Amino acid sequence: MSLKDKIDLNRLPSHIAIIMDGNGRWAKEKGKNRIFGHSNGVESVRQVSECCAELGVKHMTLYAFSTENWNRPKLEVVALMELLVMTIRKETKTLMENNIRLKAIGNLNTLPSRCYNELMESIEITKNNTRMELVLALSYSGRDEIIQTTKKLATQVANGELNTEDISEELFSSHLFTHDMPDPELLIRTSGEHRISNFLLWQLAYTEFYFTEKYWPEFRKEDVYEAIINYQNRERRFGKTSEQVSTGDAK
Ligand code: IPE
Ligand code: IPE
Ligand code: MG
Repeated sequence: MSLKDKIDLNRLPSHIAIIMDGNGRWAKEKGKNRIFGHSNGVESVRQVSECCAELGVKHMTLYAFSTENWNRPKLEVVALMELLVMTIRKETKTLMENNIRLKAIGNLNTLPSRCYNELMESIEITKNNTRMELVLALSYSGRDEIIQTTKKLATQVANGELNTEDISEELFSSHLFTHDMPDPELLIRTSGEHRISNFLLWQLAYTEFYFTEKYWPEFRKEDVYEAIINYQNRERRFGKTSEQVSTGDAK
C-alpha cells in the first residue's frame, strides 16, 4: 500500500497552511548562498500545490514572506522579490492548467510595484478557477492583521455603525484577510523549528500542528502525504469514543 492510499479522502483537511522554512540552511549545507535555497524552494511549492489540488484540498496558504523578513539583508530581500515576480510570471499557466486560483494576504501595498502588479495580474487571470485556492502570505504579520481588523471595527463603532456588544468571533473573523476561507485544520512547518513566527495567529486557534525536520527545498509530495496521515491519525484519537467513530458519529 502506498502512502497516498493510506489517506482517507473523506477526511481531508479543507485548508492546509504551511510555514516554508529552512531554505537558507539547506543551501548552506550544500555550500551555496541563501538565494540558491530560495530558488530551489520554488520546486517544492510546485509539487506541494499540485499534490494538494490532486487530493482535493480546497485551500492552501503558504507563508512566503513575513513583515519581519523585510529586516533581512537588502540583497536577499531584492532576490526574494525578484524570484516572486519570475515565479508568478512562469507559473500562472500551470495554475490555469491545474484549475488553481491564486490569492494573496498581507500588506500587499508594501511590495515593490513590479511584484504587486505581477501578483494582481495572476490573481485576476486565475480568479474563476475552482479546484483549489493557493494563498500566498506576503509581507504578512498575524498581529498586524488583528490590529487592522480591530481598527476597522473600532471605526465602525465610532461612526455609530456597530454596537460594541455585537462584536463576536464570527464578526471579527469576517473582517480578517482570510474572511472567505475556513481556518486551517493542519499547519505544517519544515526545518525543525517549532514556532508560529507571527503566522495566522487568530486562525490557528484549533489547528493541528505538524513539524518535520526536512528543509523546505527537499519537501515533496510524499511528505505532504505523511503530514496528512499523521493529522488523520490524531483526529481519530481525539475526544470521541471508538463506538462513535465506527458509527460515523465523529466529525
Ligand atoms: C524560509 O527559509 C524562506 C523565507 C523566510 C523567505 P529561510 O530563508 O528562513 O531559511 P533558514 O531558516 O534561514 O534556513
Ligand atoms: C517564517 O520563517 C516566515 C516565512 C516562512 C516566510 P522565518 O525563517 O522568517 O522565521 P524565524 O525568523 O525563524 O522565526
Ligand atoms: Mg527561517
